[in-house]
Amino acid sequence: MVRKIAILGSTGSIGRNALKVIDALGGDYKVTVLTAHNNVELLAEQVRKFKPQIAVVTNPEKVNAFKSLLGDCETEILVGNKALSLAVSSEDVDIVIAAIVGAAGLEAILAAAKAGKILAIANKEPLVIAGSLLTKIAKQTGAKIIPVDSEHSAVFQAMQAGDAKEVNRIILTASGGPFRGATAEQIKNATIEQALAHPTWNMGKKITIDSATMMNKALEIIEAKWLFDVPVEKIEVLVHPESIVHSMVEFVDGSVIAQMSAPDMCLPIQYALTFPKRVKGITKHLRLEEIGKLTFEKPDMKVFKALKIGYEVAKTGGTAAAVFNAANEAAVKEFLEGNIKFVNIVEIIEYCLNKHKVKTNATLEDLISADNWARIEVKECLNKVM
Ligand SMILES: NC(=O)c1ccc[n+]([C@@H]2O[C@H](COP(=O)([O-])OP(=O)(O)OC[C@H]3O[C@@H](n4cnc5c(N)ncnc54)[C@H](OP(=O)(O)O)[C@@H]3O)[C@@H](O)[C@H]2O)c1
Repeated sequence: MVRKIAILGSTGSIGRNALKVIDALGGDYKVTVLTAHNNVELLAEQVRKFKPQIAVVTNPEKVNAFKSLLGDCETEILVGNKALSLAVSSEDVDIVIAAIVGAAGLEAILAAAKAGKILAIANKEPLVIAGSLLTKIAKQTGAKIIPVDSEHSAVFQAMQAGDAKEVNRIILTASGGPFRGATAEQIKNATIEQALAHPTWNMGKKITIDSATMMNKALEIIEAKWLFDVPVEKIEVLVHPESIVHSMVEFVDGSVIAQMSAPDMCLPIQYALTFPKRVKGITKHLRLEEIGKLTFEKPDMKVFKALKIGYEVAKTGGTAAAVFNAANEAAVKEFLEGNIKFVNIVEIIEYCLNKHKVKTNATLEDLISADNWARIEVKECLNKVM
């Protein structure tokens, strides 16, 4: 049976890798929905090659350019963020690869869960913001959530070796990013170029900056809490600079099951598409003798304060994670535009969290309003300082 796939954010790093994987998998997998925000040139190329039923341009200002680039074509063109929800709910979609960056992907992911689709989620921010709601909806509709984030895919794969009740610890690995081993003093004025120079992974800009602050791992702790329904106390982080062990699960008998592979997102993307089967893919196979040794160390939470804050936010719950995520998204944007220093990113997040009055048992409206509040707070905080 042909599996019909929607890729939300097909022009991004994950989206482009997903298309490579689907291309290599062949005729059993058919792309039916592609979406982009600004990069309509690439979207037009993708539409010409993969001939989806629907293409969504979420930025309305780019739709005319897209139409003229595409010319005559049978693909239906939809516009705006709301169109994402419509597209993923279509009967022509079995699997949704969520690869938009940031909270912008939230509504569409919830819509896909409501429609009972298989959700292959790379877009971690919606899980961080609304993991409680999303997992609840998925349980009600039978939507299957399969993580694409390499660490969570590794945990998901390791979990196949035992029962969820037998899990003692989840150990998320982290490359340590470009500033592993640095002091707070050394990195406080890091440049955009230095922060974007990730040692092992080639990713979009936002997640690369998140890796440099280790905010990425903080988000992943919250992501793991929702995906695997484990208390935060059972989630640990180990820095593993070789990025070969993508994460581990320790079971109650002391067995630790690790998932290893070359650092290539094509593998977790493919596993999410073919699960529960494994098929030959395009990821280079590991030769451990060429790697020689694998090392692990405790993260330095004094230098990488985001990680410590992440644990606190994960325990607090409610609207705290929405503020944590939105303040980070807004601060990273300001950093990438050259408006703030590297050190300011986490300072701004802390400022917003300290000012926020957490609401527990938050509804979707509460979470969205906490997200909006934090983004306004970041702007106001910058206006005061600058
Ligand atoms: N890259 C990785 O290796 C990796 C690994 C694990 C997890 N992730 C997660 O996967 C997600 C995507 O990361 P990425 O690195 O692929 O990001 P990216 O390269 O920056 O791509 C982001 C995608 O989202 C689209 N987009 C941006 N803003 C949008 C908006 N407001 N509304 C709708 N679409 C929007 C972009 O469209 P345009 O390009 O057309 O503007 C693009 O297709 C993130 O949540 C990230 O944390 C990524």
